[in-house]
Amino acid sequence: MGAGKVSAFSSPFTLTVVRLGYRITQVMVNALRISIFVPVVCLFVLVCAPYAWGETEDLMPPVMPGDTSEPPDVLKSPFYPCSGCHATMKVNYTKRVPSAHPDKELKGHGEPIRWCLDCHNAEDRDFLRLIGGEKVPFEKSYILCGQCHGPVYRDWQYGAHGKRTGYWNGEKTFMICTKCHNPHHPRFPRITPEPAPTPPEETLR
Ligand code: HEC
Ligand code: HEC
Ligand code: HEC
Ligand code: HEC
Repeated sequence: MGAGKVSAFSSPFTLTVVRLGYRITQVMVNALRISIFVPVVCLFVLVCAPYAWGETEDLMPPVMPGDTSEPPDVLKSPFYPCSGCHATMKVNYTKRVPSAHPDKELKGHGEPIRWCLDCHNAEDRDFLRLIGGEKVPFEKSYILCGQCHGPVYRDWQYGAHGKRTGYWNGEKTFMICTKCHNPHHPRFPRITPEPAPTPPEETLR
């Protein structure tokens, strides 16, 4: 009988049972691997997706936490929402002054190398776009400006440029760049100097 035990593996039936047992163990180990691997991958994707798919919220530094601003003028424009017309229009990438927006001709804003769709999101016209293609709402246009005007942007963030009202240690309201600068022709027009004052000897009788 003892010999029978030793030779049990040579019996085709026992061999099949042992093989089956081994397969089942393999499947269970794989299942265990998957049960660890899948949640880890899911967690990775969940954590990284907002960065990979350009969730703009993370790219938006707060001006100062809690500060507020007035909504930009564009929201009151008869042309807003832009998607009212543009959602059904084909994007035209030809550099030109669009006939529908003649007053938006760029002046003094790098127009030899730049154009409308460098700032306005081509596919969703209700948004602006950053250099990397990320969408930015009109309310946060200062992030767009800040990409090229770094030093002024930093001054503005801390209140040295632009205008801020409210309490020094309480609620504050800030003005966004476009309240003062027209993004299409940002330079303020030159002021013609007043004539020199009349010298006193000429005003005496
Ligand atoms: C009343 C309809 C209308 C509205 C609203 C409108 N647009 Fe347009 N827009 C047009 C038309 C029409 C053209 C094309 C004109 C041409 O080809 O000369 C155009 C062209 C443009 C272009 C040039 C690129 C392209 O796709 O042709 C830009 C950029 C643009 N519009 C931005 C805006 C923005 C930003 C808004 C919202 C603030 C807006 N538009 C709202 C009608 C509109
Ligand atoms: C430097 C970035 C920049 C460029 C370049 C630019 N825009 Fe704009 N545009 C803006 C911003 C920012 C606003 C929102 C202004 C505000 O806050 O009220 C705006 C607003 C607008 C509006 C709505 C405001 C209104 O008065 O109706 C239209 C239409 C528009 N742009 C069209 C154009 C067209 C057409 C071009 C190209 C000829 C162009 N933009 C180029 C940044 C830009
Ligand atoms: C892609 C880069 C870029 C972006 C984005 C941009 N600017 Fe400019 N800006 C320039 C360049 C380049 C000039 C100089 C153009 C020239 O001298 O012809 C300029 C000029 C200006 C000036 C005039 C400076 C002077 O010397 O008087 C102002 C003001 C200004 N930009 C404000 C803005 C505001 C506000 C925004 C956001 C709506 C903005 N810019 C977005 C590149 C940019
Ligand atoms: C309260 C109004 C106001 C706001 C808000 C404002 N500016 Fe200005 N900005 C001015 C004035 C006034 C000047 C001086 C213009 C001059 O000297 O011709 C100026 C000058 C500039 C200049 C040219 C001078 C320089 O130092 O290079 C740039 C560029 C500029 N601003 C960008 C911006 C940007 C970007 C923002 C938003 C982050 C912004 N501004 C917000 C009023 C404002």
